[in-house]
Amino acid sequence: MRAVLVGPPGAGKGTQAQILAEELSIPKVSTGDIFRANVSGGTELGKKAKEFMDRGDLVPDEVTNAMVKDRLAQSDAVEGFLLDGFPRNVPQAETLRTILADLDTSLDVVLELKVDEEEVVRRLSGRRSCPECGRVYHVEYDAPKEPGKCDNEGAELYQREDDREETIRHRLEVYREQTAPLVEFYTGEGLLATISATGPVAEVTARAKAAIDEKKRSAA
Ligand code: AP5
Repeated sequence: MRAVLVGPPGAGKGTQAQILAEELSIPKVSTGDIFRANVSGGTELGKKAKEFMDRGDLVPDEVTNAMVKDRLAQSDAVEGFLLDGFPRNVPQAETLRTILADLDTSLDVVLELKVDEEEVVRRLSGRRSCPECGRVYHVEYDAPKEPGKCDNEGAELYQREDDREETIRHRLEVYREQTAPLVEFYTGEGLLATISATGPVAEVTARAKAAIDEKKRSAA
């Protein structure tokens, strides 16, 4: 399965990607997670990405596309992957099509997660993440067993730099202007499936799995 998750910041892409990737036994490839790991590791890539991420802007395509190309060429992604946060605009989608064509393959499904903007602000302002395993929590909706600590690692949870309300509003604008056109692009490619991402996490997962299965059946 080669799948992409598309949706505004806070739609639950990371949350669903983690669950679905485990269930489908494919790697989750999150460009946001790769950038954040590079920022905290102080790499050249991290230095290039940080100022864009802190503002809530997209990292330039040449940086992002090269990183994704390398990641998808790794052996664990040969049989499939779940992309979370890439592509983020039409030029990135065209690059992805070329990267996959060079590997003699193509996407199976693009799953759009829909959620309204006020819910996004509520979700992101309460988000906490584990620096060790990357698991994402919410202080109210998906709280860890012990406040502030990861259930898996016991590590201290942190709040992302770009989860301040002003930056969240800017990320939503960037989504509307640059990422939302992907819905039309992938509808045209016959790959889009749309679900509501509102409601409990398990219900959204069930909708996502049903939509993926339906897409697989209609392609067979
Ligand atoms: P990225 O990390 O991809 O951020 P994003 O797309 O803004 O998405 P988020 O991670 O904020 O939200 P999500 O949809 O994953 O939601 P989550 O599951 O965490 O990118 C960050 C930055 O990196 C970008 O701004 C850009 O600078 C750069 N970047 C990344 N990719 C790029 C690219 N391709 N090109 C250029 N630049 C790029 O959930 C959010 C919260 O809600 C959590 O607290 C969670 O517990 C909670 N939650 C989840 N589901 C539910 C539910 N059903 N009900 C209630 N709460 C829920």
